[in-house]
This record gives sequence, C-alpha cells and structure tokens, in this order.
Amino acid sequence: MSKARIAVMVSGGGTNLQALIDAQNSGIITSGSVKLVISNNPDAYALERAKKAGIQTAVVSKKQCGSQDIFEEKIKEILSIKKIDIIVLAGFMSILSANFTNAYPERIINVHPSLIPSFCGKGFYGLKVHEAALKYGVKVTGATVHFVNEIPDGGKIIMQKAVEILEGDTPETLQKRVMQQAEWKILPEAVEKVCSEI
Ligand code: GAR
Repeated sequence: MSKARIAVMVSGGGTNLQALIDAQNSGIITSGSVKLVISNNPDAYALERAKKAGIQTAVVSKKQCGSQDIFEEKIKEILSIKKIDIIVLAGFMSILSANFTNAYPERIINVHPSLIPSFCGKGFYGLKVHEAALKYGVKVTGATVHFVNEIPDGGKIIMQKAVEILEGDTPETLQKRVMQQAEWKILPEAVEKVCSEI
C-alpha cells in the first residue's frame, strides 16, 4: 500500500508540525508521509522545521495574492502539483472558504486547542482560546482534531483529549500544557487514523 501524501499548512511556530515529523520518525505515523509544508507567513519558524526535516516548503501570502480567491487557487494548484491526499492545518491562522473546503471533503484535518464546541469558531485561535477558557472559569479544557468544512471549527470530530486547568494558570502556561498533553499526541494519532482509512 502506498502512503497517503500529506501537506501541512502552518502560520507560526510549528510545534504541531514538529510533532508530526517526530511521529513519522518514531513510527506512530506509518500510513502517510509529509511531502509539503505550506505557510501563509514567510517568517513562520515552522518553515525552518520543515527544511531541517528535508520537507519541501511553499509560502503563499494572502496579501500578495490580493484576494481570498487567488490565495486559495494558488494553494490548490500547489497541492495538485504535489498530488496531495490529506491536508493538515497545524496552527494555520487563516480561515478557508467553502470554495476551498468543499474541494477536499473529509480530507482536511485541523487541530484546535479546546474541547469543541467550547471556545471555537471565528475569533478563537491561538492564545485567545486559552484566555477565553480561563475567563469563563472552566476547570477542564483540552484539544480537538476534526475534519474541516465550511463552518469554522464545525466539521466532524476525529479525536479529543481533556486537560485539567490548574490554579494560577496563565494563557501561556495553559497553552503549553494543552499542547504537551493533548495536541502533540492526538494530532499524529488522528492523522495516522485518517491516512490508514483512505
Ligand atoms: C496550536 O495551539 C493550535 O492548536 C492553534 O495554534 C497553535 C499553533 O501552534 N490553532 C488554532 O488556534 C487554530 N484555530 P504551533 O504553530 O506551535 O503548532
């Protein structure tokens, strides 16, 4: 069986991308292989991580494209040239339109740093998610890996993992714990699951 060809889309630090690379090296991901990393931000450290791992990279800037349509068409073109089967959004901080998501039904996976349906949707990304969880006062949060459809954070859930909120947590300490205890574990597991099923 040939491996599913994976593209990872990133915007920032890329610790989730790193978790995928490590999972490939340690044999947690065996049914797929990361062939491409696409960033919408030319300064994303994730691009360095990809290069260090010998993975091809591409930068597509929405600003330079001038419109959402052209931005998405450009990404589609690259995905098609690289014959990508599965797209993983790993800290990709730009919302994709229905036009894009409809082109890849149940082929786009996202990791979100809360237990969906809490603290998700438009405006909830990165640290803002943890700020909202702390402000609300929930005692348990976590991470969710889900398929991406036209509704932000609204697609079918693949995996979730809960993480306790501790006395004295700041958005930063909580973000780190959610990454370590949940995101970096369930993202590779979910990617392997989906790749093994297609
Ligand atoms: C992660 O916590 C990820 O779940 C979150 O941004 C961070 C990216 O970190 N994504 C979202 O909030 C998407 N709505 P990383 O670049 O180190 O992987």
